Order: sequence, then structure tokens, then C-alpha cells
Amino acid sequence: MIYKITNAALILMAATSGAMAQTDPLRFDPDDFTRQTITMPNGESVAYKAYEGIPYVKNIEDSTYQTLNIYVPETLADITRVPILMRTYVGGYMASTAKSPSPSDATGRALREGYVVCIPGSRGSNSTIDRDGKTVYTGIAPNGLLDLKAAVRYLRYNDALIPGESELIFTDGTSAGGAMSSLLGATGNAIEYEPYLKTMGAADTRDDVFAAICYCPITDLNHADMEYEWLYGCTNTGVRHLSEEQITISNELSAKCPSYINSLELKDKSGNIITADIYKEYLKTFLIASAHRALQEGCEIPDSIGFAFYQDKSGPMGAPGNIPRQGMRHRMDDNRDAPSFGPGNAPRFNKTSDFVSGLDLDKYLTYVATTTPLKTPPAFDQMGVLIPTPSPENKVFGNTYGDAANFTNFSLQHRLDNTSATLDAEMVERVALMNPMNFIGNDKASVAPNWYIRHGAKDRDTSFLVPVNLATKLMNADKNVDFALPWNRPHSGDYNLDDLFNWIKTTLSE
Ligand code: DHB
Repeated sequence: MIYKITNAALILMAATSGAMAQTDPLRFDPDDFTRQTITMPNGESVAYKAYEGIPYVKNIEDSTYQTLNIYVPETLADITRVPILMRTYVGGYMASTAKSPSPSDATGRALREGYVVCIPGSRGSNSTIDRDGKTVYTGIAPNGLLDLKAAVRYLRYNDALIPGESELIFTDGTSAGGAMSSLLGATGNAIEYEPYLKTMGAADTRDDVFAAICYCPITDLNHADMEYEWLYGCTNTGVRHLSEEQITISNELSAKCPSYINSLELKDKSGNIITADIYKEYLKTFLIASAHRALQEGCEIPDSIGFAFYQDKSGPMGAPGNIPRQGMRHRMDDNRDAPSFGPGNAPRFNKTSDFVSGLDLDKYLTYVATTTPLKTPPAFDQMGVLIPTPSPENKVFGNTYGDAANFTNFSLQHRLDNTSATLDAEMVERVALMNPMNFIGNDKASVAPNWYIRHGAKDRDTSFLVPVNLATKLMNADKNVDFALPWNRPHSGDYNLDDLFNWIKTTLSE
């Protein structure tokens, strides 16, 4: 049978679809913006259109946080496909509102480069709403991550309306935000998150991203305690001044780490398996590379912090027959944690004269512990074990009533109140959803092809094993990974923006 569609019916259909488009709460409105400018550190001003306070899910639970801002430079980069930098300001696993761009971080720099910027808010451990007179905690794990995934989906859903390419999203965050960035990079389209995103009313589209920029990601939370003790245990009776009880916990945790390392079956660049037995040698290669680069940039490195040097008569990389360096002094006032590798750091002495020949790792770790006191064991799942205080991680794994919770069996079973139990299935799932390591090197997710991972060489907020394992697992999965432990950097992010944006440009041109 052939139906004849009348003009009247066509008009009605058009009107209905127009009305539907109007009422689609996830449709981006290209005309709803204000004009703003920021002034960059060099005085240059950058003008952009600001689209702010946009809800990115249909079923908003917490309107303070579940919105995003989009900033579109008046002058877009003169390239065929303009990327979108999605910067999260999550810190301490807490909630974060959608923010404005800052001239001093990657958001301002991205606008200056002519890139589109998106700054989503997200719920976190401290976000609450009032429901029927009761306080409800809205941001317990994995809700903050779900929000950010929903924001990615919003950009893709509105790709035709928002300038920039939703296929070229670079996520960026620091610390807990670095962890979120690593999760966005690792968990693209994983079905494990689908039911939650559906319930939230996230756009029905993909949430994989092109690149993840992760500064000091505080992640792999369910192994982070053992990784911390295995690395820093050498300082327990020295600079860390642990009590006997703390040392017992530290030793027990540390003893669990080798089998975890071995279970990862990580490979070095030559394809050799990095077993726990040789892991520290592998870690040392990154610290030595960091120190070596710092030397080339003109930094002075003291003899007292574990590095051994050769003085090279022939050039920076040395040659057989070089002689050990004697008595190089460190200037303790030498504040080299300001952009260490960027231009403007004039070498203070002949930068080609020395190179690093070795590292006493325990000595270096002792030095790191003197710059910032270490966390006490357990460093992350600490609540109830030796102290009652919840860590940021205990809080984010808490419940909607605001009660913090343990998230490892080790800590549950080492509580002072002896409520020895095992994690329930729901907690096991929540912990798994918050660990990017679970989604790399298998077919669970569309993992971002590009990664920029930085963890300062004196950052003790988590063990060096966390970023090293993440980067290595990604490299083993054939991802494009730029990983370094920048010299003399404490726990911080969005530094050395020249280096970052050069990497972004290279990544876009590949
Ligand atoms: C952050 C730092 C931590 O040491 C931690 O355990 C969790 C989060 C942060 O700075 O975001």
C-alpha cells in the first residue's frame, strides 16, 4: 500500500520535530553566549565566547555541579580540526564546579592556541543535596567520574553545534583530577558504566576520548597502599620515624606488593618482563633520565641525594673512561622546581660536563621524604586502621549518608575495632570502576590512543609505582605515551605548558 503524505501532514511533522529539538534538554544552543576576555601572563588578551552553566544530563541530581562551561576563542586555531581541551578541577576527590579559564594554566593557554575549552563541574565526596529534609551525599564513587563521562558525551552529542572536534578531546587534570583524566582516557565506552549513565540521562553516544593528560594521578587506589610501603619502607626507621605498630602495618602491606607487580606482567621497551625483583632498576631509569635532563638544562644536583655522576671530557652523553665527579655542591636556595626544562632557565655551569651514572634509590627516597613528610601507613585506605581519620579516598568511597568507608580488604581486616569482614560486592564494583588499570590491555574499553603523564620527581603523594605502572601498561598496549618524572617537582600540575602544548601539536599532526 502506498501512503500519500499531504502537505499538511508534512508541515505537522516538521513542526513536531522542531518542537522536539527545542525541548531536547541536551541540545547545545550556539546563540546563548557572552563575550569575555582573559589577559595572559605576557599581557596579551584573548577573546572568547563563553557558554556557561549548561546541564549535561537530563536527570540532574545536583544542579550545583552537574553543569559544564564551554569557551570558544574568537580566533580559532588555523587548522582543519580544532581540538577541545576538557579540564577538570577535581582535587582531593571532592566536588568541583564548572569554572572559568585561567591565564596561568592549560585552559588559558589552550584558548590562546585557538583551541576550544570545556570545564565541567562534577560531584565529589563533599557534594550534598537536601532531599525530604535529609542530607544526601551525591558524589560518592563513581559518581564524579560518571559526571565527567556524561560531559564528554554532551560534547560528542552536540558535535555539529559546538566548534571544535569532539573526536579530538584532550582531558586534563591534576592529582585526583589526574586520576579522573586517566579514567576518562582508559574507560571509553566501557559497558560497566552504561546503566549508570543511562539512569542519569547522559547523552546516548560514545564517551571515549582522543588523549588524556594526567598530572600526578592519585589512582590504582586499591593497590596504592602496598605500593607506597614497598617503595618507602626503607625510610620507616629513619626519616619517617614510624612507631612499631606502623612498621608492622607497613611491612605487611609491602609484602603484598611483589605479587601485585608480577601480576601486571609489565614489559620494558625491549620486551623483558619487569618482575618485582628488577622493578626498582626499571624505576631508576625514569629518575635517572629526569636528573640527566635537569643537568642538561643547567640544574645543579647535590651529591648527597643518591645520584652518582661522571664528569665527561667529551660531551654530555659521556664515553668510556670518564672520571667520577667530585664534590659538586648543591645550592639549597636553587629553586629549580619552577619550570625546570623550559626556556629562560639559563644554565649556571657547564651543562655538558656531567652526566648521571647511577642512583642509590633508598638514599633518594630518603631525600624525597625530607622535602615533604611521607603519609603514614596505610597511606590511602587509612580510616580505622591505626587512626580513625578518613582519607579523601575513604570519603569518596563512603555512602550517601556521608559515612566514609574502607575500600580494601587489608584495611577492613586491620581495623582497630576488629570488624574483620570482606568488602561487599557493591564496594568491589565501585573500586573496580575507579581504577583505570582494569581497562587497559584488554578489550573492555576504547582506550585513548594518546597519553601525557607527569609525576614530579619529588612528589610523595603516591608511590612512583602508580604513574610508572600506568604509563608502562599503556605503552605495552601500544598507546602513544609521553611519560616523565620531572625533576624537582612536588605534587602539582599544568606546569611546563610549552612542553605540554608542543606535545598536543605533535599529537594532532600524527
Ligand atoms: C589529592 C592528593 C592526595 O594526596 C590524595 O590522597 C588524594 C587527592 C589531590 O591533591 O587531589
